[in-house]
Amino acid sequence: MALQLGDTAPDFTQDSTQGPLHFYEWAGNSWVVLFSHPKDFTPVCTTELGIVARMKPDFDKRGIKAIGLSVDPVASHQTWAKDIEETQGAALNFPLVADHDRKVADLYGMIHPNASDTLTVRSVFVIDPQKKVRLTLTYPASAGRNFDEILRAIDSLMLTDKHKVATPGNWKPGEDVIIVPSVSNDDARKLFPGGFKELKPYLRTTKQPA
Ligand code: BEZ
Repeated sequence: MALQLGDTAPDFTQDSTQGPLHFYEWAGNSWVVLFSHPKDFTPVCTTELGIVARMKPDFDKRGIKAIGLSVDPVASHQTWAKDIEETQGAALNFPLVADHDRKVADLYGMIHPNASDTLTVRSVFVIDPQKKVRLTLTYPASAGRNFDEILRAIDSLMLTDKHKVATPGNWKPGEDVIIVPSVSNDDARKLFPGGFKELKPYLRTTKQPA
């Protein structure tokens, strides 16, 4: 069965551009964005990996580690990495798993046979420091992903883990948030001393907690 939200992310050991990679050991206590791409030396994948390399400061400041994967061998990843640096203005600064025997792709359900029997789709798994799967995305080969959106969603996860709030559609960090329905108005007055707006009993907004 496909991995679902709240499941424990499977551990693995596999070759990577940074040598043999023991996933849990490498992840440590960080949040992780594990993402697969269909194939080395393909145009959309080249842009995606360049974007993630350029966004490293944004990942680092949140304590998030990125790790890419395809079913190509490590020698292929290493040759392709030179093209990524040349064309994308950034060298790979995170590991690329070389899943030549599809061990990880099978564990995580990254091959969707009705899309392609042999290539991984564009899967994303956001994994928290407790190794729980907190968010998944699946994109087809033809559509490059929006990594700003992935970080925005992780900002929401980190905020809502700490406070009794949820984030509205199209929320961006710094904007007002929603008080979760399980909090009574009496408790909301204590938890959010700056006050809140009650548009409906189930729709109450407040400033984003610090
Ligand atoms: C790409 O990354 O450009 C790509 C990969 C596989 C199929 C189609 C496009």
